[in-house]
Amino acid sequence: MIAVDLSEPDDFEAWRSEARRLVAQGAAPDAVAWTDGDGSADLFAVPAAVSRSEPREVRASRAFMDLARSAILHADAGRLALLYRVLWRLQDQPRLLDDAADRDVAALERLAKQVRRDIHKMRAFVRFRSVTDEDGERFVAWFEPEHRIERYNADFFVNRFASQRWSILTPRLSLHWDGMALLEGPAAARGDAPSEDATEELWLEYYRSTFNPARLKVGMMVKEMPRRYWKNLPEARQIPDLIAGAHKREAAMIATGASLFEDAPPTSLKAIAEGIAQCRRCAIGCNGTNAVMGEGSRHAGLMIVGEQPGDTEEREARPFVGPAGQLLDRALGEAGVDREAAYVTNAVKHFKFVPRGKRRLHQTPTAGEIDICRWWLDGERALVKPKVILALGASGARGLLGRTPSINKERGHALAQADGTTVWLTAHPSYLLRLDGEAREREHARFADDLAGLARMLSNT
Ligand code: URA
Repeated sequence: MIAVDLSEPDDFEAWRSEARRLVAQGAAPDAVAWTDGDGSADLFAVPAAVSRSEPREVRASRAFMDLARSAILHADAGRLALLYRVLWRLQDQPRLLDDAADRDVAALERLAKQVRRDIHKMRAFVRFRSVTDEDGERFVAWFEPEHRIERYNADFFVNRFASQRWSILTPRLSLHWDGMALLEGPAAARGDAPSEDATEELWLEYYRSTFNPARLKVGMMVKEMPRRYWKNLPEARQIPDLIAGAHKREAAMIATGASLFEDAPPTSLKAIAEGIAQCRRCAIGCNGTNAVMGEGSRHAGLMIVGEQPGDTEEREARPFVGPAGQLLDRALGEAGVDREAAYVTNAVKHFKFVPRGKRRLHQTPTAGEIDICRWWLDGERALVKPKVILALGASGARGLLGRTPSINKERGHALAQADGTTVWLTAHPSYLLRLDGEAREREHARFADDLAGLARMLSNT
């Protein structure tokens, strides 16, 4: 028996890398004992070791990854083994997920659904109470999720209440936002949270802002929040007014969206550097990290756009200087593209992460965050006026194109843009760093091909 202990039970990336390694080594599901970092490991199991046999390529569809990302948050201790069994079976049955009658598939779907429902419930039913501490007002909520969804939902609350100081206490852990950074604390008890609140203002404001008039469906609202509970919910007092004003509010929301950035576009790279340092237009900008400005020639013919600075980039306040940057430099050099002559930047200017002990784990920015930060990327584009732009990965591409393309479908083609530039897509080097075995070799070769295509295009422009 091979023992695999997941020290953080909701750490999908850790599960994924263990599972990939085990499948690649040919470790059958019944030979693997998964545990949750709770010391419940099988006494007769041995720690996972590196096998000497030829590793096999590991395949996992996006649909599986999406289901697995939710299902791993389920409280059921059997979920890790189930996930592994499905991943294992997918290697020989790539269409397995289409078989809804399959027991494993049905179980996986059920777990993922229950988790998604719990995620939604937490977003809808967290109730903040106002307290005053030595730094002023803080909003505190007690919530008991059924599944391990607290960290997953943290971003949602940071985005909602970026400018407030708040804590969400749960029986598993606590989340604290101080307006700049998200910190994790230990498990809490119900008594740690205040039970009475003088104002409920934050909650009422939250409710007003999450009440999307464009999606008003009274029947659904009643199902989600049955009328018999309304009398106990402060926000329910707002429902009649909100319904009555729905259409007016919808028009106002459209108008606000259109005028999100009314200031004039920046007129110099220096202005952009100063602007991003102060930018608080999304939650990432509020997390207290260094903004990372693009760097390179002001008249570069080639612009390279990544996703967002990573841990090393944030510390050094320079783009692509960590492991992904080193891989990129090597590959550009091999393709004959001179990084020094290019302008290198990111779609998002701050580092989005979740703290895990001393580590800061990268988190992918949302489409909304990329769209907000496009203001700065567009400014760099307008000032540098590159002829060709290399987009690394889907986030970089979204920053440039305003839509999230399929990198697989659109990579290696010249995409002509309205401003006369040509965008060239390829994978993100961090993606290559996560691969191993045959997939790693194959993807490195594709990356090299894409960069060779870019070099050919540059020599013709
Ligand atoms: N990944 C990116 O997308 N950008 C960087 O600057 C570093 C890593």
